[in-house]
Amino acid sequence: MVFWRVKPLDKILETAEKKSLKRQLGPIQLTLLGIGAVIGTGIFVLTAEAAQKAGPAMMVAFVIAAVVCGLAAFAYAELAAMLPVSGSAYTYTYGVMGELVAWVVGWALVLEYAIGATAVCVGWSGYMNGLLMHTDVFGLVQPGALALPEFLRTGYFSGGGFNLLAFLVGILVTWLLVIGTSKSARVNAVLVAIKIIALTVFVALAVPAARSGNLEPFLPGGWGSPLGGAGVLGAAASIFFAYVGFDAVSTAAEETKNPNRNIPIGLIASLVICTVFYLLVGYGAAGSIGAQPMLGANGVPLDPGTPQMAAACQASQALVCSNEPLAHVMRMLGYPNIGNWIGVAAIIALPSVILMMMFGQTRIFFTMSRDGLLPEKLSNVHPRFFTPHVITYLTGAVVSVCGALFPVGKLADTSNAGTLLAFAMVAIGVMILRKQQPDRPRPFRAPLVWIVCPLAVAGCVLLFVNLSVIAKVVFLVWAAIGLVIYRLYGYRRSQLATESGT
Ligand code: ALA
Repeated sequence: MVFWRVKPLDKILETAEKKSLKRQLGPIQLTLLGIGAVIGTGIFVLTAEAAQKAGPAMMVAFVIAAVVCGLAAFAYAELAAMLPVSGSAYTYTYGVMGELVAWVVGWALVLEYAIGATAVCVGWSGYMNGLLMHTDVFGLVQPGALALPEFLRTGYFSGGGFNLLAFLVGILVTWLLVIGTSKSARVNAVLVAIKIIALTVFVALAVPAARSGNLEPFLPGGWGSPLGGAGVLGAAASIFFAYVGFDAVSTAAEETKNPNRNIPIGLIASLVICTVFYLLVGYGAAGSIGAQPMLGANGVPLDPGTPQMAAACQASQALVCSNEPLAHVMRMLGYPNIGNWIGVAAIIALPSVILMMMFGQTRIFFTMSRDGLLPEKLSNVHPRFFTPHVITYLTGAVVSVCGALFPVGKLADTSNAGTLLAFAMVAIGVMILRKQQPDRPRPFRAPLVWIVCPLAVAGCVLLFVNLSVIAKVVFLVWAAIGLVIYRLYGYRRSQLATESGT
C-alpha cells in the first residue's frame, strides 16, 4: 500500500546532513538545556488557567503532566539517539510507520511548534502589558502612564481587540530567525539563571505567606468533565504545555558524551527540577492569595480565556484573572517592585522559548519539503543569511496574527494536542522498532520499555481527551486539511514516490 511506504532507517541517516558533531555535552549542560527549553509561559502564565480549572488542586495537575511527559521523554530519547537527524518525531515515524503517519505527525508538529510559539507570545505580552501598567520607570512617570489602551492588550477571542505586543514580539523573533540567530549555550545558561532566580524569589516570598485556609476547597472543579477542558485532568492537559521542550534534551543525543548515562540524567534532572519548582510556585500562589475559580451561574468554573471569563474578571484581583499571575501574587503580597522584576525576568527569558519553538517549526517544514511532501520552494535559503527565510516568514506571519487574536490557554491546548500525538507516535514507534529491528544499535535504551511506552501512550490519550473541546476540534480540522493536502500533493510528489515510481 503506497500510503505506508516507509523510508528505510539507513536511508534516513544517509540523507540527513552529514554532521559529525563533537560529543561534548555532559549531564549538567543537558539539564540546563532542558530547563532552558521548558520553563516559560506554562509556569509564568498558565498557572492562572490551571487554577481556574482545578483550583488549589492544580498542584496535582502539575504532577500528572510531569509523569506523562517523563514517560514520553524516555521513548523520545531512544529514537533520538538511534536517529540523530533533524525532523524529530516526523522523521522517526517516517522510518517506522510510513509516510502517511509521518505526514500526520509532521503536520501535528506544526501545531506543537507554531501554535506553541504563539502561546508564548501571548504569555509574553501579558507580562509586558502588566509591567507597562505598573512601572513608574524609577520615578520618571506616573504608574500606568505607559499602559496601552485596553483594546490593544488582549486578543479579540479573549474579550479584547488586538493583542499588539504579542503581534510585535512574533515579528521580532521572526526577524531574528531570518538573520540567523540561533540558540547559544552561553545565552541559554544566562536565561536559565534568570528564570531560576525569578522563580526562587517568588517561592521564597510566597511559600511562607501560604495559609492552609487558602487551599480550601481543594478540588472546586472536580477531576474532569466528559467533554474535557475542566477539572484536575483538564488542568493537567493544559499545564502539560509547561513541560514541553524536553525533546531538546533527547535531540541532543548526538552531541552528548556517554548518552546512555547522560541523556536519562539530563531528562530526569530537568524534569524533576522543573516539577519541584512548579509545585512550589503552585503552592505559593494558591496558598498565599488563594486560587479559587470564577464560577458561572450554574456554579461550575467558567471556561478560561472566554469573553464570559473576561466579564467575570472585570476589576477582580483573583489569581485566576491575572495575565501575569506570578507578578500579580507579589503585588498582592505587598512586593510591587519584586512583582515588576519577576515581570522583567519573564520578558527577558520568554522570547528565547518563542525562538526555539519557531526554529523547530521551520526545521520540520524544511525536512518535510526536502522529502517532497511540501513544495521545494518552501525550503529556499536566504542568499545572504543562509536561513530558510520563506518558511520563517510564513511561520512568523501565522504566529504573529494568531498571537494578536487568540487567548493563551486555548493556544497552549491546541499546541498540546499536536505534541501529545507526536509523543504517542514516538512511544509506539519505539515498541515497533524493538520488535522489528531488535539488533539495531541503540545508544540509549528506554528502561522497562514494555511498561514505559504503553503507559506513555495511555497518558497521552488521557491528556488529549481532557483538552478543551475547541483545541480538539481545531486539531481534527487541521488533521483533515493536512490529509487533503497530502492526497493532492505529497502523495504524488514525495521523494520516495518519485524514486520508486509508485
Ligand atoms: N514549556 C514551554 C513553556 O512553558 C513551552 O513556555
